[in-house]
Amino acid sequence: MARLGSQAKAGFYPTPDSVCELLKAKIIFDLEKGARLLDPCCGEGKTLSRLAGGVPNLTTYGIELDHQRAHEARSRLDKVLWGDSLSEVMVSPGSFGLLYLNPPYDTGVSDGAKSQRLEVQFLRRYLGTLQQGGYLVLVIPYYILKHCAKPLARYFKVQVLGFPEDEFQAFRQCIVFGRKKLLAPKEEAEQTQTHLEELAGMEPDEFMNEVETLECIAPVSITVPPPAKPLTTFRAKNIDPLEAIPLVRKAGILKNVLAELTPKKNNVIRPLTSVKKGQMALMLAGGYMNKAIEKNGRQLVVKGVMDKSEKVINVRENDSGEGSITTRDQYIPTIKIIDMQTAELIMVQ
Ligand SMILES: C[S@@+](CC[C@H](N)C(=O)[O-])C[C@H]1O[C@@H](n2cnc3c(N)ncnc32)[C@H](O)[C@@H]1O
Repeated sequence: MARLGSQAKAGFYPTPDSVCELLKAKIIFDLEKGARLLDPCCGEGKTLSRLAGGVPNLTTYGIELDHQRAHEARSRLDKVLWGDSLSEVMVSPGSFGLLYLNPPYDTGVSDGAKSQRLEVQFLRRYLGTLQQGGYLVLVIPYYILKHCAKPLARYFKVQVLGFPEDEFQAFRQCIVFGRKKLLAPKEEAEQTQTHLEELAGMEPDEFMNEVETLECIAPVSITVPPPAKPLTTFRAKNIDPLEAIPLVRKAGILKNVLAELTPKKNNVIRPLTSVKKGQMALMLAGGYMNKAIEKNGRQLVVKGVMDKSEKVINVRENDSGEGSITTRDQYIPTIKIIDMQTAELIMVQ
């Protein structure tokens, strides 16, 4: 399996190292006042931490859907939320100097049955979190520019760059640097929109001839502004147990919390025929079998939930590594077990 396929297996496709290095060389920060940086699809947090690396007074914020990746990102970024950044988090508007957005390249369902590219859903949801004069760094396949053209043209002064030639082949990505501004006049916005749509409609070679590539632009290209106001809200609607347990311990209220978590009443289940695995999983996830039990001398509380994650359903790739990855959200019946003596959390999926 070549590069594209193996990356898809891991479930995400981070920004290539060479692109991170080039980006780092193009972005400058106010060394005294610093800046706030946000990546709403932060993966393991490597890209944002590299962009911020070695610069004083920067604060890095990430959001990630995959629990394991969110956990890993916490070792690299200052604050990481675990959850769906489109629907499960709350972030103050106008609070970030830099928004790094390398979203899943896929179609998602929004507004009932109407489907819309995820790239534009993330862009629309997060453009409001940037302060005036703040910078968007958007990484998307260039042909997706047609879906993003309208919001980009209305709210940003944009510059489109191609990925370095050897990295371009895999996903045909471009980078959009966008400086946030007040709403553009209608005529100017329409002209920019048309230009972006034209770029999106080009053949890959034509596109690469038309735009500059990242390595060719001047060394100092974007200057990220320092925070203009305090960040009042950055939180997830769901509680992440990996974060909550140490906090509860520290606060000295572990005993009370565990007592509160213990179900008051255990359901007694007497199926008439033997229960199939699928039925058992649904009953567990639906909470019907939540209970306190004793096993090998350990007091355990069992709770079933549906966990959401991303599944790769299709990888198309030719010999030169070109192609696409299609992913879908999936809901996994999960059993969470808390050991009442140690507050250890065990998860079974
Ligand atoms: C293309 S990777 C980008 C990783 C990192 N930002 C980078 O550029 O190296 C996209 C990441 O977004 C995550 N993701 C997908 N849908 C998400 C959602 N609804 N909310 C938060 N994260 C999501 C995936 O799990 C994956 O780690």
